[in-house]
Amino acid sequence: MVLRKQLPRPRSSAWYDGVENLPHRVYLRAIGFSDEDFEKPLVAVATSWNEAGPCNFHTYALAGSVKKGVARAGGTALAVPTLVVNDGINMGTDGMKYSLISRELVADSVEAQVNSHGFDAWVGIGGCDKTQPGIMMAMARLDLPSVYLYGGSAEPGYVGDRVLTVQEAFEAVGAYLSGKITGRDLRLIEENAMPTYGTCQGLFTANTMAILSEALGLAPLGSSTAPATSGERAKHAQRAGELVLDHLERGIRPRHILTHDAFHNAIATLMAIAGSTNAVLHLLAIAHEAGVKLELEDFDRIGRKVPVIAALKPSGPYTMYDLHRVGGAPVILKKLLDKGILVGEAYTVEGEEIGRLLEKRELNGSGEPVVYSFSNPYKKHAGIRILKGNLAPEGAVMKIGASEKLRFMGPAQVFNSEKDAFKAVEEGRIEKGSVVVIRYMGPKGAPGMPEMLKITAAIVGAGLGEHVALVTDGRFSGATRGIMVGHVAPEAAVGGPIALLEDGDVIEINAKEGTIRVKVDKDIMNVRRKTWTPPPEPTVGLLRKYARLVQQASRGAVTT
Ligand code: FES
Repeated sequence: MVLRKQLPRPRSSAWYDGVENLPHRVYLRAIGFSDEDFEKPLVAVATSWNEAGPCNFHTYALAGSVKKGVARAGGTALAVPTLVVNDGINMGTDGMKYSLISRELVADSVEAQVNSHGFDAWVGIGGCDKTQPGIMMAMARLDLPSVYLYGGSAEPGYVGDRVLTVQEAFEAVGAYLSGKITGRDLRLIEENAMPTYGTCQGLFTANTMAILSEALGLAPLGSSTAPATSGERAKHAQRAGELVLDHLERGIRPRHILTHDAFHNAIATLMAIAGSTNAVLHLLAIAHEAGVKLELEDFDRIGRKVPVIAALKPSGPYTMYDLHRVGGAPVILKKLLDKGILVGEAYTVEGEEIGRLLEKRELNGSGEPVVYSFSNPYKKHAGIRILKGNLAPEGAVMKIGASEKLRFMGPAQVFNSEKDAFKAVEEGRIEKGSVVVIRYMGPKGAPGMPEMLKITAAIVGAGLGEHVALVTDGRFSGATRGIMVGHVAPEAAVGGPIALLEDGDVIEINAKEGTIRVKVDKDIMNVRRKTWTPPPEPTVGLLRKYARLVQQASRGAVTT
């Protein structure tokens, strides 16, 4: 007989051992637990799962593979699903208000589930945009042995030779409305843009956060890019299950991993891939949970040293699937390490430093044509720039990886909702050269800081992408391209300067200098402030609770 090593059960023993806990055991015996199961560490597989969209459609099955790995390593695992708000489906609707809120709900529900049932360790499986930072925030908050695992991206679609992602589907609407494509083209895009389950295929928010989970050290190296449909996913899941028991045995916790160096590495990677601006919010929020001091200035400081080396959609032509074929995230991380930008000493879930892991890893090739070199980067400037100025005293985030223009000046066309702005695009009322301002879209104002892919895609689809700029206190989707400034803080709902703008005010955006200014005299702004009144509080329960708690975007829009 093989004698199994006794693994620690620091929490589950208090829930399930002894006479006094007999009733607790009764509940688990009701679902098939044996004496042997109670002797093993209890592991939660926190799975953001539902059938309401493709992004996390398969992650419950993936939880089964994690459980297999846990069992193999000597633990007992139970799946504990959390909710998923599918950003692509609620884009442009009132449902979008729940997107960022769902990040907090995911983090809070993992906390409630893991802490209420005495789990010793846990593995978190994310997919759609907010489920990932939600789980990583819970890892930082709970600081229990845990491993992050991504559910994987959908495969790209094709019409003939043309590669499609959901980005093309969103942009096709504007192209059709402005007569650039036919109804047949539109139908072909609708039917072929997303041929499988998994997350959106480009480097939008989900795939950005997945790559950053490796850069942060929370996910095993090389685990983020395999498609959702591939057999590799199950292998990564089994390994995550085994790994988390190793953490339990060795006492490895997320806060050993989530140091300032880890966030430095994540920010450098974000800049090098021209990732989603949402990652700024999410990294600030994860750092907040980990007790690490991270500020918008860190993004600017690190970003100014890092050019874009990945040619991924929406900045470039390639998808996550293409990145996987050339070696995945480790190819990018190794280039950052070789350039001296990545801090090699940062610790990872694999129980080793990221630099050592990358040195040991066999990479087949340089990553071309998806990943460029630092001597010949894809774009010379970083993907994201932090702006400050009299229009955003606490900061704003500009995505520049997807646009060639670093400076823009023009008169404001001001809208108090995305719907009004979308109508103006539909009716051809957006003037070339103008700065489209969409306000009252912030964390408190909307509430929930909705993403605005529908309007940004409509602007690009209407051929205005390089001719107008967009400024908002809301967010953009990772699929957004054009000259876009979001996360303006303070937001309009708390009386930030963006609330005082009027049509025709000249706004100057200068990504090179990192500034955003409105050219209106201070005295005039003060006069306008006297007549400004805050918007009414939301009336719906969760929206009202969130609006009361949430902080500004410059602080990650956290609620704790
Ligand atoms: Fe879920 Fe894009 S809508 S990842």
